[in-house]
Parts: sequence; C-alpha cells; structure tokens
Amino acid sequence: MNNTASFIRTIAFAVLSYFFFNWIGTTEEATAFENLPWLWVVYGVIILFYIAGEASLGALSRVLYASLKPEAREKYDENLAFAKANEFKWIKNIYKKSLGSKAIEQEHEIILDHNYDGIKELDNNLPPWWVYMFYATILFAVIYLVRFEVFDDYDQEQEYETAVAAAQIEIDEWKKTAKNLVDVNTVVLLTDAADINAGKAIFQSNCVACHKADGGGGIGPNLTDRYWILGGGIKNVFNTISEGGRSGKGMVAWKQDLKPLEMAQVASYVLGFEGTTPAEPKAAEGEIWTDPDTPQVEEQINEIITDSLDHPEVEIEELKVALDNN
Ligand code: HEC
Repeated sequence: MNNTASFIRTIAFAVLSYFFFNWIGTTEEATAFENLPWLWVVYGVIILFYIAGEASLGALSRVLYASLKPEAREKYDENLAFAKANEFKWIKNIYKKSLGSKAIEQEHEIILDHNYDGIKELDNNLPPWWVYMFYATILFAVIYLVRFEVFDDYDQEQEYETAVAAAQIEIDEWKKTAKNLVDVNTVVLLTDAADINAGKAIFQSNCVACHKADGGGGIGPNLTDRYWILGGGIKNVFNTISEGGRSGKGMVAWKQDLKPLEMAQVASYVLGFEGTTPAEPKAAEGEIWTDPDTPQVEEQINEIITDSLDHPEVEIEELKVALDNN
C-alpha cells in the first residue's frame, strides 16, 4: 500500500467484490448481505487478503530494488519518474482539451490590442465543455418541444397519474405478502385451512374460558347464533377482538396480545361457528346481524318479481336460481 495506484486498486476491488456478492446472492426479498449476515465476515477477510497481497507485492519490489546494482537502480528510477510524469495522462489531456485554452507561448496569437495601463485582454475560444453542453441543451429543447408541444405525448397530470397507479400496484403486491398489515378497514374473512387452524389454536388458548371451545358461551356470549351484541361480520368481530367489548363486561381488548394477522385468523375462526350446535348454548343476546353489503334474499326476490311484471318473459326459473343460490 505504498502508492496511489495500489490504493485505487484496493478500493476498486472492494467495490467490485461487494457488487459481485450482491449479484450472486440477492433474492427478491433482500440483498445478499441481509440474507446472510456472516457474508460481511467473508467479505472482510477477502479484502484483508487482498490488502496483504498488495502490501507483499510492494515489499517484494522494495527488496528487489535494494538488490539492484547502482546503474540498474538509476535506470529504474528514471523509468519510474517517466511513468509518474505520465500517470493519468489521458485524463489530464481530456481535461486540458475541454478547457480549450491556448498554451502560454501561443497567447500572442489571440491577444487583443486593448491595453489599459498594461492590462491586456485575450480573445479565448469558448471552452469546448461549455459549448457542447450548450449544443446539448438546444438538442434537448428541440426534442422536448416536438414531443410534448407538437405531438402532446403526455402532460404532468398524466405522468403523475401513471406514477401513482404504478405505486398502487406495488403497494397491493406488497400488502399481499405483508399479511400482518390488516386492520379493521382492510380485514377480510380468511378461508385458508392454515389460517383457520391458527385461529382455532389462538381461540383455544385465549378465549375458551369465557366462550367455551364450541363457542356456546359462558361468561361471554354465544358465538354460534346469528345474534351479535357488537355486530357480526368480519369487520365488527375483528374490531371487537381488537378493541374489546363494552366496558365492565369482561371482553378485553386483545390488540396488545395478538398481532393483527392473529386477530384476523381468530375472527375468521369465530365466524365459522355460525350455524353449529354447541353442547350447552347460551341464550341469544343482541340482534340478528345482516350484512349491509350483500342484498338479502327477500330484496332479490322482490326485484325479480317487479322485473317480471314489467317483462313477462322473465321466467320463474330465475326465481328458483336466486333461491338456490342463497
Ligand atoms: C374474560 C372472559 C372473556 C375472554 C377471555 C374472551 N371474551 Fe370475548 N366476550 C366476553 C364478554 C363478556 C363479551 C360480551 C361483551 C359485551 O357485552 O360488550 C364478549 C364478546 C365477544 C365477541 C362479540 C360477541 C357479540 O355478540 O357481539 C366476540 C367476537 C368475542 N368476544 C371473541 C372473543 C375472542 C376471539 C376471544 C379470545 C381472543 C375472547 N372473546 C376472549 C368475554 C370474554
């Protein structure tokens, strides 16, 4: 590690190997280093080995240098000085060219014949870096004008809307994998056997003391009938479990003890009780719950009847289908 070149080589090696590890080890969920934290150790060791290699190369060349005869040493120094002088020559050249300035010996070619008390003025060219940037802005302006003003490709509002729509898709995708994110507004009835079984386990370890294993009720109300004190349906039940019942009744809020997903699972399990017959059912409490979101059978039938009065061709068959479906 005795010169700039080996320093730059080491940095480049570190960066490249970092990207290499990520390239081979990154999965959709996480980067390689997040997946395998011990990779940091491997990475560190590899870098240490590399530095050791660079250092021993440097030491080797110093030993060789010490073993050279004086004339050979002189020649070596000369070569080294030449190489040093030409180090990064191409970058320096590009930089010089981009300035477009004249060498001091040629300045007499561009000197103007103003002379203010010995202060003279040079007529330098515009620096090429500036000129090319200027051309680039002109090109950009032409393309922009034609694309957006002549052909009306899209405007800011459309751009905003596509971005929002794309983000929404990403959010939906993410929410599918982040089940734990449910709250009372997004919760839906879970039907997967795995979710129902998880709900059953939660119910058996937390709720049976008051609701009984078959949901027949004890201290807590009967969960198997169509009557609900605090509202039926997945949203209300989730909310009751999360926030608890009326104060003083004994149903505590479970949101500190259960994760949102667990509350959704146990709520789905509880809703599965409806229509079963428990061993010792507690008398119904509360009111019959009807889901305001699904039209009731009566309503549907009324609709079909009024429909068929207007259009006699509507068959009685349709009525049967509606009844069967419910
Ligand atoms: C300490 C006894 C107790 C425990 C434990 C208990 N509950 Fe309750 N639960 C009650 C009582 C009492 C009510 C009635 C609350 C009210 O009247 O406001 C109730 C009400 C409910 C309701 C609403 C019923 C309705 O008719 O609206 C649901 C759903 C419910 N509990 C589910 C659960 C779940 C799920 C668990 C376990 C995570 C649980 N309960 C644990 C006592 C309990």
